[in-house]
Amino acid sequence: MKRPIAHLVGVGMYAPPRVMTNDEFATMGLETTDEWIYKRTGITQRHVAGPQETNCSMAAAASRMAMKRAGVAAAEVDVIVLGTASPDRLLPSTAVDLQAELGASKAAAFDVMAACSSFLYGLIVAEGLIVSGNADIILVVGTEMLTSIVDWQDRSTCVLFGDGAGAAVLKRSSNGKGILSSFMRSDGKLAELLYRPSGGAAHPFDAKVLQDRSFYVKMQGREVFKHAVRSMSEAADRALAGAQLRGADIDVMIPHQANVRIIEATARHAGIPMDKVFVNVDRYGNTSSASVPIALEEAISSGRITEGMTVLLVAFGAGFTWASLVIRF
Ligand code: ACO
Repeated sequence: MKRPIAHLVGVGMYAPPRVMTNDEFATMGLETTDEWIYKRTGITQRHVAGPQETNCSMAAAASRMAMKRAGVAAAEVDVIVLGTASPDRLLPSTAVDLQAELGASKAAAFDVMAACSSFLYGLIVAEGLIVSGNADIILVVGTEMLTSIVDWQDRSTCVLFGDGAGAAVLKRSSNGKGILSSFMRSDGKLAELLYRPSGGAAHPFDAKVLQDRSFYVKMQGREVFKHAVRSMSEAADRALAGAQLRGADIDVMIPHQANVRIIEATARHAGIPMDKVFVNVDRYGNTSSASVPIALEEAISSGRITEGMTVLLVAFGAGFTWASLVIRF
C-alpha cells in the first residue's frame, strides 16, 4: 500500500433551503407519483436553488465551511478545481467566479467537466498537483444547479435531480492519513446515452433548439442504469486493488447518489454490506458532481466517518466517466 501524499483536511457542503417533495410534481401537471419515483430510485425529495442562488454562491458556502474546518484562509489556496455539469456561464469557468467570490487571490482556478464523476476527477487532479510539488493547498468543489438544465416536462429525467454543492480542502499529508489509491476512466462512445444535444458550439442555440427543447438533458435511463452498475463495480474493484484492500476492509463507502438500486448493486459487487454504505439520495436526489462531497460531509459531521477509518468513494456519470478513491481518515 502506498503512503498517502495528499489528504482531505476539511469538508463542507451547502443545500438550498427550498425542498421539493415527489408529490409536488403531480401538482405541476406531470404524470408521475411519489410511489413510482421512490420505488424506482429511492428519492423522496430534492433541494432546489432559489432565484438568488447560483453555482458560485452555493460553491462559496460549501467552500467556506470546508476552509474553516481545515483552518485555511482563502488567500492561502493555490488551486481551485471545480466540477460541474451545469456551469453558471459557458465562458469563463465557474471556478474563476468562485475564486473572485472567496478572495482566493493567488489561486489558479479551472473547471473539470466529468459530470457526476467530476468531484472525484478533481480530487485525483489535486492529488497529482500536490505530488508534483506544484501546489500545497487545493480547494476541490462539486456544484450543480441541475434543476436549471433538466426538462420539467420530461418525467423520465426531471424527477431524478437536485441542486447543491460540496467542497474539500486538500493538503500534503504528514500523518499517514489521506488518499491511498485512485482510479478514473471514460468511454466517450456512450456520450449520447446521457447528454445535452444542443446549446454548445457544435449545435449553437437558435429558435429550433428552443422549439425542440434540445438544450435540456436527455437520457436513456435503462442503458445508463446498466452501465452505471458495471462501471461503478469496476471502479470499486480498481481502487480496492490499488490500496491492496478488500471490500471487508472498508469502514464506509460513499457512492455517487443517483439511485439506491445502483448503489445496492455496486456495494453487493464490492462485498460491502449496506450498513457500511452512506445513502442520502432519498433527501437530495441526484446532485451530480455535488453528490459525493455532500454525502462525505454528512458522513463526517454525523460521526459515521471517524479518525482511522478507511473510506471508499465511487462515482459514475455522463460521458461516460467513472472514478474511485480509497482514503484513510
Ligand atoms: N413517473 C411515472 N412513470 C415514469 C416516470 C415517472 N417519473 N418516468 C418514466 N416512467 C415510465 C416510462 O414512460 C415507462 O413507461 P412505459 O413502460 O409505458 O413505456 C416506464 O415508466 C418504465 O420506464 P423505464 O425508463 O424503463 O424505467 P426504469 O425502471 O428503467 O427506471 C430510471 C427509470 C429510474 C430513470 C432508471 O432507469 C434509472 O435510474 N436509470 C439510471 C439513471 C441515472 O442514475 N442517471 C444518472 C446517472 S449518471 C449521472 O448521475 C449524471
